[in-house]
Amino acid sequence: MAGSAALTAELRSLYLDLTKRSLTGALAEDNDSILGGVRTAGSPSFKKRVAAAVGDLAQKANLEIAYKKPYDPTLRENGLDWPSRAESMIGLRRMTNIQECIAQIVADDVPGDLIETGVWRGGACIFMKANLRAWGDTTRTVWLADSFEGLPAPDAARYPADAGDRLHEQTGLAVGADQVRHNFERYGLLDDRVRFLVGWFKDTLPTAPVERLALMRLDGDMYESTIQALEPLYPKLSPGGFCIIDDFGSHASQAGQAVHDYRARHGITDEIVQIDEFGAYWRKS
Ligand SMILES: C[S@@+](CC[C@H](N)C(=O)[O-])C[C@H]1O[C@@H](n2cnc3c(N)ncnc32)[C@H](O)[C@@H]1O
Repeated sequence: MAGSAALTAELRSLYLDLTKRSLTGALAEDNDSILGGVRTAGSPSFKKRVAAAVGDLAQKANLEIAYKKPYDPTLRENGLDWPSRAESMIGLRRMTNIQECIAQIVADDVPGDLIETGVWRGGACIFMKANLRAWGDTTRTVWLADSFEGLPAPDAARYPADAGDRLHEQTGLAVGADQVRHNFERYGLLDDRVRFLVGWFKDTLPTAPVERLALMRLDGDMYESTIQALEPLYPKLSPGGFCIIDDFGSHASQAGQAVHDYRARHGITDEIVQIDEFGAYWRKS
């Protein structure tokens, strides 16, 4: 039927647009600061710790106390604030980057699976899976690598760039694998081509049963978490595949530095393209 390809493309685009708005909290304009939630739990700020303690008490009584803040679409567009309830903190522009990379991978038939190292509530991986479904791709696996218990304490002796890092104290960054599985189910996207690598990257990634990758997305913030993902995974990335670093700009002295060190050691000169203030990627030549 004339026009059916155009209609399919339009429906795909509408589905992916709605899905990314939902996953980032842009749809719900999700901007409450829930006491005891991700914006306060384990925060180094004294005020936020007090707020978290009050929130924990309320939660024991099955109550939620939320500080209401006006929603700022620009912050969410650029992934500059953390949603209280939504499944991803990366914002709309970095979601669109995933969408564009997968469209290119499908168009060019770049072989391999997709992985994110550092998934939190799973939103970016749910979006990867939504894209594969939207393109009718049933062959690729989406791999989720995470401790599912937050970030590691810094190992400043081995990785001086991480000295003083306090992200491991932020208990709101620890989201269990069962919760992430449930989040996939809520979007109708959990199947046996969604696979979990549970544990610290240094333990799981070197022996992960991942054969070939078309897209690797690193979102572990720290130098350690970035270099420990690049070393075992980058050699598995197909030519034409994409390497995305969520924290290239936001953690320039940690994730960003790990990228510069790895690229220099391996003579990688493919152009780094900035997505927004935080994220960047390059395409393997
Ligand atoms: C910023 S969050 C990821 C955000 C997520 N990509 C999203 O779409 O919202 C960082 C995640 O990396 C994980 N992580 C960081 N370093 C890790 C390491 N060395 N081993 C395992 N997990 C790690 C944390 O548990 C956390 O879930």
